[in-house]
Parts: sequence; C-alpha cells; structure tokens
Amino acid sequence: VKKAVLLATLLASASTCAFAQPAAPWMDRSKSADARAAAAVAAMTEDEKLTLVLGFTDPQELPKLPAGIIDPAILRDVEAHQVPGSAGYVPGVPRLGIPAQSQTDASIGVRVEGLPRTALPSSLATAASFDPKVTEAGGVMIAHEARLSGFNVFLAGGGNLAREPRNGRNFEYTGEDPLLTGVMTGGLINGIQSQHMVSTMKHYAVNDQETLRTSVDSKISNQGMRQSDLLAFEMILDRSSPGSAMCSYNLVNGFWACENDYLLNKVLKQDWGFKGYVMSDWGAVHSTIQAANSGLDQMTGYSCCDQTPFFGRLLKEAIATGQVSQKRLDDMATRILWPLFAKGVIDDPQKVGPIDFKADADVSQAAAEQSLVLLKNQGGLLPLKNVRSIAVIGGHADRGVMAGAGSSNVTPVGGNALENPPQYMTYIPSSPLKALKAVEPKAQVGFADGKDVAAAARLAAQSEVAVVFVTQWNGEGFDGKLELTDNQDALVAAVAKANPRTIVVVESGGAVLMPWLDQVTAVLEAFYPGARGGEAVADILTGKVNPSGHLPITFPASDAQLAHPIVGLGERDGTHAQIVYDEGAAIGYKWYDLKGYKPLFAFGHGLSYTDFALSGLRPAVENGTLTVSVTVKNTGKRAGAAVPQIYVAADRAAGWEAPKRLGGFEKVLLQPGESRTVHVTVDPRLLATWREAGDQWVIAPGTYHVLAGQASDALPLSADVALPGRVFSAVHPRRPD
Ligand code: GLC
Repeated sequence: VKKAVLLATLLASASTCAFAQPAAPWMDRSKSADARAAAAVAAMTEDEKLTLVLGFTDPQELPKLPAGIIDPAILRDVEAHQVPGSAGYVPGVPRLGIPAQSQTDASIGVRVEGLPRTALPSSLATAASFDPKVTEAGGVMIAHEARLSGFNVFLAGGGNLAREPRNGRNFEYTGEDPLLTGVMTGGLINGIQSQHMVSTMKHYAVNDQETLRTSVDSKISNQGMRQSDLLAFEMILDRSSPGSAMCSYNLVNGFWACENDYLLNKVLKQDWGFKGYVMSDWGAVHSTIQAANSGLDQMTGYSCCDQTPFFGRLLKEAIATGQVSQKRLDDMATRILWPLFAKGVIDDPQKVGPIDFKADADVSQAAAEQSLVLLKNQGGLLPLKNVRSIAVIGGHADRGVMAGAGSSNVTPVGGNALENPPQYMTYIPSSPLKALKAVEPKAQVGFADGKDVAAAARLAAQSEVAVVFVTQWNGEGFDGKLELTDNQDALVAAVAKANPRTIVVVESGGAVLMPWLDQVTAVLEAFYPGARGGEAVADILTGKVNPSGHLPITFPASDAQLAHPIVGLGERDGTHAQIVYDEGAAIGYKWYDLKGYKPLFAFGHGLSYTDFALSGLRPAVENGTLTVSVTVKNTGKRAGAAVPQIYVAADRAAGWEAPKRLGGFEKVLLQPGESRTVHVTVDPRLLATWREAGDQWVIAPGTYHVLAGQASDALPLSADVALPGRVFSAVHPRRPD
C-alpha cells in the first residue's frame, strides 16, 4: 500500500510540474491589483475589453433584440451564465479567466424577486445605531448570502443625504450628515467587500428626491455640493474604498450625472483619486461619446430601461473613428478589473450554497436592537414592568413589520406577511404582537387592527397600557409625506384619550409628523426594523434590551420648516424640471440652526433606560489638527450604550453654511457607574469651507467652539479653541489598493 501511495503522490506532483503552465501574470497573487488589472487588459482583444463595459438585466431578453446590436459571442456567454432574476449581469472573458459580474441589489439584503433572503433593518435604521460595527456586521451577513446566491457585485452603499425629508428612498440611505454617512455607509461597504465582493456607493450624485428622478436637474452651487452631498461620498470613499460608484438618473447643473465630466472626471477620479469604475444606474445613460469621455466606465442594466446599448457596437464604432480613444477603453477595462482583483472576487469566486437563515436573522435582530430610537418616555413608563394587560393596535402588528419598496426590497424568508398587500408593499413576517406575547407570557395581550377606531379605543381602555403601531410606507420611485395616512393620527388620538398610558411605535421610512405627541406617554421609532423587527421592538418595550439609537435625521415639527414647501416641484427650465437647492450645504440640523427653527425631534436625539453624564471636555490643537476628548459616565442603574457627540461651531466670519457641524461621535457601552473617555479627531474639512479657486479647503483663523452632548439640541459642554488659518488641497493622493 505504501508504495502505491508514494507512486500516486509522485505522479500527482509530476503531472503538475511537468505540465504546469506559468500562471498568467494577472493571476499572480503576489502582484498588486493595479499590476494584475493592467496585465489582464494588455492581454485582451478590443472586443474582450468591450465585453466588460456593457451590462444587461434579464439575459432572457437579449436574444429578442434586433440582430447586430449584441455580439453573438456575448449572447452565448450571457445565456450560459445567466443568474435568474439578477439585477444585472456583465459577461466575463473566459479565455483569460475573468469571471462574469453578477450584480444584485442592495444595502438591506439580497434582492431577487421571489427568492427569500434575510432583510437587515433599513439603512436609515442602522445609521441610528451610530456604530459602524453594526453596519459592517450587516454588510458581512448580506454579502455572505449574496455569494451563496451566486452574486459577486453588490449594488449597495446608498450615500445620498436626506436633504429632502420626504425623499422616498431615505430609508436606503444613512441620514442628513456627511460624517455620519461616511462612517455608517463606509461600514456597510467594508463589511460587504470583506467577503470578496465588489460594492458600489450610490447614487452619485445629488439624487435627493424621487419626484421626476430620471429627468430632474439638481441645481446646486459647487461649494454647496462639496460641503454636503459630495462630502458624504468623499467620506465614504475615505473609509471603505468601494470598487464602484453608481452614477445617478438625474442631471446635476445641466449635465446628466452619468455623463458629467465635473462629477466623474474632475471630482471623483482626479480630486478624490477614485480607482474603481463608474457604473450607470439602470437606464441612466444618454449617449456614447459624451458618456465615455466624461468618465462613465460601464453601462449597466441594458435592455430593461434603455432604448440603446450605448456601450455596445456604438462604442466600438466611436473608438474606430477616434471619438473615444483606445486609451479611454483601456482605462474603462482597467478600472472594472481593478476591484475584481483588489477585493478578492477573482481569487475567491462565489459559490452557490445553503444559507443559515437563523444565524443571519440573529445578525439582523442584533442590528435592530442597536438602532431603534426611544424618542419619548414620560414618567419612565418604559420598559414595561409586570403589566397585566396590553392592548396592541394597528400597523398589522399581528402579522409583521413594514419594509420599504423598490429595488432594495428583500423577499422575506417566510414570504410576505400580508395576504393581498397593495402592489409592491411588503411586510416581513416578524409579528410584534407574537413577540410581545412571547416575552410577556403572563400578560393578557389583545389586538385590534385599528380600522375600527372605537373598538381600538375600547380595547385600550380595558388594558393597562396600549401600544399603537403606526406606519409610513416609502419606496423607490415616489416621494412621501411627513403626515401619517389612513386616519392613523385619529387612531392614536382616540387610543391616547381612552388610555393615557399609550405607547406609539413608528415604522417609517423617515421622519413623520406627530400631532398626538403631547397626548401619548412614549414613542419608539423603529424605522423599517428588518427580519426580526417584531422581536427587537418587543425586547426594547419590555426592557430585555436597553435602546441606544439616536436620530440620523431631524424630525420636523411641520412642513413649514422645510427648505422646499412642496417636494420636487422645481421650476421648469427648457427641457428639464429643475430643483434648485439654494440651501446649499445647510441641510438637516444645519438648516434648523440657520433658520432658528425648533424641530419635533433633533438630529442625534435618543433616550435610554439608564442615564449618562458628560464631563471633562478637552479640545486640543496640535499642528492645526483639532482633537477632542470627553468623558461619559453611566449614572443610572443598568448597563447601556451612550453616543457622546462632538459638534464644532464657528462664528459667521468662518463662512460656514450653518452655525455648527457634527465633528465626531463614538458609541460606548457602559456598566452602571462606569466611565469612559472618548477621543475624537475632527476632520479638517469639517472646519473648512471649500473654495473653487484653487480647488482648496480653507480654514479661517480664529476662535471656534467645541460642543459636546448627546443630541444636536442638547450640548451642555462647550470650550473654545483658537485655530490657525490653513489652506489645503481638495486633491487626494492616489489611493492604495
Ligand atoms: C434602480 C435603482 C438602483 C438599483 C438599480 C438596479 O433603478 O436606482 O439603486 O441598484 O436600478 O436594480
């Protein structure tokens, strides 16, 4: 036997060394991703490079296209590799071992119609955790499910700022502040890419409303953009190096975002040193030559929403006539291949396999428990203690929790909890009613669906406490309203009248108005709480979990406080509707500060079942860098997580868009009596204004104010610092792999 084993071993090794081909240089893992991408492109034919720059939606559609539009070789590859129901597909180059790119949506989980997968809480919800470890863990989980579903590119990383509180897609994004978005969306992208997938950041840029989204022209000054929407994407890029940026549907200052030389070539690629590729949104391409020369690298999603495959034969012809250079095509192909090497997609290809849905739902529940925001808790009604009877009312709480609509919507494990839902409306089958009964088995828990307001009020009157669930349904393709619909305000008012010990749980895509706020005792903002949202709500209401979320967006007191009275209806100018963002970078809490408005609930607000005290605020300036330390203590009786927040404020002379800006934050878990000192370094761009001339950031010399607290409207500590003047370039050094 031994001889046989030895012989077999020798033969095996002989066969490898005798016939071993030198690995193609681009497969040499000791080389940098830059070098590997360059080597692969050098080995490619022109048609192979062109294969990389045109992506499709449903491969089934392609053979029906008029002959000659798509290269027959590509059709054969597409048909061979189709992933049913995927958002997008880009053929590979099998001859060189370059895999196809199979793309799936989005930041909340794997979205394939009818394919059950695990939904995280909405991105706005997890932004409320103010902890990038939460979004990173979420990214790891959904990427794990995506690879086991056959995908290697995640259309995730929503980074548009909540400039417009009624934007239907705010639930896919991470709030109104550039730093919070950079940290939280960056965490998600890091989690995804750690699993050897490419993630996008999207939708670049100023795609801040859904009204007329594929044709509206976002008008905003370059300085206003640089200090808000673009700063958010820049901070995402600084923290997570997404392999791709998805340009958006809208125009920005008169040019389509996917053929916008300023946004793509000047800002993203030259100033920020972005090494990945710009992919289009689905149907967002309007030309071949203009788009290619303005920085678009890949037209994706063809045939679902485009009339013409602008990056198919038309691009080949444009190269043949020299209107698009060969060098530009090489750059497009190199940019697409770079993340496939740099993020491990080629070296560790995805494999379809079984998914552990229980473990993944645990991740989603842990995220929700860190994210839900306790907005009001009068007299410490919460957490519920030994209540004998609870009335649960409305919000389909007997069935599940609401999810947002559109391309980020995940088909729930267990299917839609509603039998005949309105089109596109999804409830995830995680029932708060069932979860409450499980956590409080001794309590008598009754349910009223809320359609019959009088019946709901009667149940409330007969119960020790009443928990009313209200919902605001938001989604892609439409903007919402701040007011609750379907008579929900009247329902809450009637229940609160019947029983003052009323708690309202809000399942919303964003901010909502609360005309009944003074009549209710407690309010918990659950946003769209994900696969185990019911359990997370029940655990917080009953005190199993101490809430620690803080608002990533301001809740206005009325529409009158908004920068734009009517969402999305801008002026018409020529062929395009315009939305003129003359508030510039002064959005969210900055707008309220600038106008002196008092919102319903402020950015950064969030209560706990314990108490925290801040002390010892110490700013320091060294070589022009501002660092701040502050000590937070748990002065209550139970463990809890605090989010000390540092804001920087400047006098008018500094020329900022508003009085103050979020400069830093950190989430800290503290046992009763425990203290922790947190240290924050304030990014110099948050102390500066961007200047077009010279493409520079400028810090004006002078006295600045450092504020510390637990919400943007609760900053008890302050200290002044003198900052020297400073001018620094907006141009980043080229980024490493
Ligand atoms: C959609 C969305 C984008 C999504 C893409 C693919 O229209 O705007 O976020 O990734 O198409 O589904």
